[in-house]
Formats: sequence, C-alpha cells, structure tokens
Amino acid sequence: MTESQDRWQRPLCGTEPGLQARSILKTSGEPMSFCIGNVTLKNGILLAPMAGVTDYAFRALCRRCGAEFTVSEMVSAKAMHYRDEKTAVLARIRAEEAPMAIQIFGSEPDIMAEAAALLANGSYHGCVSECAPAAIDINMGCPVRKIVSGGDGSALMKNPEKAHDIVKAVVAATPLPVTVKIRAGWNEHCKNAVEVALAVQEAGAAMVTVHGRTREQLYRPPVDLAVIAAVKEALSIPVVGNGGIAGAKDALIMKSETGCDGIMVAQGAEGNPWLFAEITAAFEGKEYVPPTPEEQLCMAREHIRLLCEDKGEVVGVREARKHLAWYVTGMRGAAAFRRAVNSALTLEELLQKLDALPAFSGENGGDS
Ligand SMILES: Cc1cc2nc3c(=O)[nH]c(=O)nc-3n(C[C@H](O)[C@H](O)[C@H](O)COP(=O)(O)O)c2cc1C
Repeated sequence: MTESQDRWQRPLCGTEPGLQARSILKTSGEPMSFCIGNVTLKNGILLAPMAGVTDYAFRALCRRCGAEFTVSEMVSAKAMHYRDEKTAVLARIRAEEAPMAIQIFGSEPDIMAEAAALLANGSYHGCVSECAPAAIDINMGCPVRKIVSGGDGSALMKNPEKAHDIVKAVVAATPLPVTVKIRAGWNEHCKNAVEVALAVQEAGAAMVTVHGRTREQLYRPPVDLAVIAAVKEALSIPVVGNGGIAGAKDALIMKSETGCDGIMVAQGAEGNPWLFAEITAAFEGKEYVPPTPEEQLCMAREHIRLLCEDKGEVVGVREARKHLAWYVTGMRGAAAFRRAVNSALTLEELLQKLDALPAFSGENGGDS
C-alpha cells in the first residue's frame, strides 16, 4: 500500500470535513447506500445523538473521520415552545457537521409539530444555522427517569398509538424527512419494536433507527440483534441498527445479522472518532491503519480547540475533561493524566498536560 492510499484510511487533522468519506474508492464489500430525503449515505454510517457528548466539536470530528450523517443532541420541543435560548444553541447546524438531523423529544403532537416547523428553516430564536436540517428525528428511546416520567422518550414505546400521532403531526408540519429512534421495547416482557416501527412508518416516517436494548436495560448488554432484524423485515423504509458497535467487526455483524440499511455508532466513538474510518474501510473491503500517537495527539488537541472555540474557554475546558479521559484510555500515564486534567482551568494548561503524556512521546503501555 502506498502512503497516499494509506492516508485515505485515516483522516489527518485540519483537512476538509468529510473529505475522507467522500474520497474513498469502493473496491469491495456490500454497498449499504440509502437515502434520507435528498441525502445519499454511501455506506450507511451514522453518528448517534448523545446528550452532553455529541456536540458541534464531536460531530465535526466524526464527520471528518467518515460519519456520513450526524444528529443533534436531543432538543426539548416544549422548551422550544417557550423560546428557550439554550435550546436555540443546541439546534444550530454548521456546515462542517452537515448533513445533520435535529432530534426533538416530547409527547404532545401539536408541540412536537410546532418545534419541527420552527426548526425546518434552519433558524430558531435568533440562532442562525449555516445549513437547514437534513431531517427531524424523534426521540423514542431516552430512558432517563425525568424524561420518561413526562411520557417522553422511551415511554412512547409503551404507547404505539401516541407514537403514531406524534409522527403524523410532525410529518404534516414540515417538508423535511421525519426519522424516529426507538428501542427494542420497554423491557424483556414488552419487546414491541416491530409494532412501534410499523406505527411510525404508517404515520409517514422516512427511517427508523432501532437501539437493540430495552429501556430497562439502559446501556447494558446484550444488544438484541434479532429485534433489529425483525424490524428490518417488517418495514419498507430504511432501518438503521444501533447498539454495542465498538469496532468494525461489530458493525459487520450488525449489518450481516440484521440486514439493516445503515449502522449508528454512539459510545464506541468516544475518544475514538477514527472508528468511522475503521468501519468505512471494513465496509469497503480496505485495510484500516490505526492512528499514530502523533495523530491521536493532534485529534485530541483539535477536539478541545473546537470545544473552546464553540463554547468559550471556561465551559470548553470543563467539558474537554471527559473527552480527554476517553482519548487516553489504555495509555501509559492515563490515570495520572485524568487527575491532572480535572484540576486544569485553562486551554493552555490542558494542552500542556496532553503534550506531556508519555504515550504521545513514542512510549506506550497501560495503567488506565
Ligand atoms: C451519554 C448518552 C447520551 C445519550 N443521549 C441520547 C439522545 O440525546 N438521544 C438519543 O436518541 N439517544 C441518546 N443516547 C443513546 C445513544 O444514541 C445510543 O442509542 C446508545 O448509546 C446505544 O448505542 P451504543 O451502544 O453504540 O452506545 C445517549 C446515550 C448516552 C450514553
């Protein structure tokens, strides 16, 4: 493999967003191409929404590494109804992270429809996006007690009729494709993903993502691939499989065992945005070359720089801590680094501590 071929496998810092994903030539492997509205996903590789994690910086870096589609952190439809300012920031889209869906949560069809209509033109409450959303995604999977107790998120898995009515109202309110993210079911005794998926398809959904765990499982294993396969079998719209994808092998298994049209990665990408390059290579039958320590350092630096640029230094530094802890997982000196980073207050301090990590000066080991 020549150096230039090798470079397509692993994005470098500072390159044009999405360049790598667009430039890889398909040589083998089964295509997973499908469309969400007028967006074609060549390999069907999506970044999942994760509140508090997949913000602008994270999404932009995952796009550079090969994620073909991103989703915002969940946005409260009710907060939008009351014109909440923090929510406006969550719903902003920059060109680097597009194509991107905005995910809304709530359980009142008219409020959800109002939120979708407000978001459709790419500007909400004074916050102007560089691009319009590629879709409106509806959250029917959030397990958090506060959300579920209001009848939102995964509570909708217990009420397929309500799920249908919400999607119908949102579809009627916006010209954008409406996608839905569901779970396998509420618990082991109620794995009704097929029923809910059929209901939302009937209401006009353009795609369904199935997280193959129940609400009761939260994020614990196992991920039920059979439920995802059953949804794929039952639906005529694209189905995306989600849950437990931490490496290319998991993505290939998800694809082959469920027949899903696309895969969605969440926690596996924490500290490892290269996972998208690894999966892209696997789907295209190419060799994946993991990042060098220099490339890892460069990515971590870029991540905190983007965070601070987007959120300001005080918030950016605070939020960078968890991301840096993920980046250094398994590296020599990681435990001490995490402690040091927790007391850092400025971007400069963070960068100095990062540069001083032994793993980034050529040595490696593991004490995390
Ligand atoms: C911290 C965290 C925040 C999340 N926030 C959201 C969210 O806002 N909307 C959503 O639909 N799912 C959310 N999820 C669920 C993920 O999108 C995904 O479905 C789940 O983590 C399973 O995928 P994984 O096994 O690859 O992590 C969140 C998950 C985590 C761990």
